[in-house]
Amino acid sequence: MNQRERGGNMSSVNEWNAQMYDHQLGFVSEYGKGLLELLQPQAGERILDLGCGTGDLSKQIAESGAVVIGMDYSEDMVREARNKYPTISFIQGDGAEFSLDQKVDAIFSNAALHWIKRAPEVATCMYDCLRPGGRLVAEFGGKGNVGSIVSALTTVLKEELAIDATKRNPWYFPSVGEYSSLLEQKGFQVTYACLFSRPTQLTNGVEGLNDWLSHFTDDFLFDLSVAQRTHIQQKVSDILKDQLFSEGAYYADYKRLRVIARKPST
Ligand code: BEZ
Repeated sequence: MNQRERGGNMSSVNEWNAQMYDHQLGFVSEYGKGLLELLQPQAGERILDLGCGTGDLSKQIAESGAVVIGMDYSEDMVREARNKYPTISFIQGDGAEFSLDQKVDAIFSNAALHWIKRAPEVATCMYDCLRPGGRLVAEFGGKGNVGSIVSALTTVLKEELAIDATKRNPWYFPSVGEYSSLLEQKGFQVTYACLFSRPTQLTNGVEGLNDWLSHFTDDFLFDLSVAQRTHIQQKVSDILKDQLFSEGAYYADYKRLRVIARKPST
């Protein structure tokens, strides 16, 4: 099932392979550590890690003494998170359709919300599961994220196969204004919002972008043959080499949106 058929959920199309996530995409959790400093988890707090992947950041939050609930759309991720961290509670859930039995003091979310196009529904679920005075600390892809990759993929798919990639794009990359407004409409007070560039080094040298495309662009390429996929990915990598390849590695043009927001106390 691809991302569009799922209605836009928090993990990728490929029913992400949890081992691959840990071994080749470890930078996702590494960068998330900076976000933890903004969360400042306290002992005894109940904290939801929304889009927890295989649970590495949930584990770090739990080390503060907070009670963590990790949630991910992918069963495979949840299974692996439970294997790795059996003392933490991990549940499978859809970011646009979840509710919790007990309210939480904080929601933490790293590199997940851009996978859910139904952002208004996500914001409602997040607001409803926070206690009054509770906080949201989130980082995800913002406006212009991986813009050069999306642009090259769009051009190549059009030229080579007459495919309109805009209809297949599974990602939600809002601006500061757009996302802050959305949260405010739902009742949040936005206390911090920032969009910044974070060129992200991809592993595996000249194959780095090809690997990234294999992991993340199934929504664009799901109906292509293996040979077609290989051809399209290679063309995109070639086109972007001048722009994104430097000193032996590709650097994806990541742009992160960081947000802190609070549910009013009364
Ligand atoms: C990101 O973390 O920004 C991202 C990852 C995969 C696909 C698109 C964006």
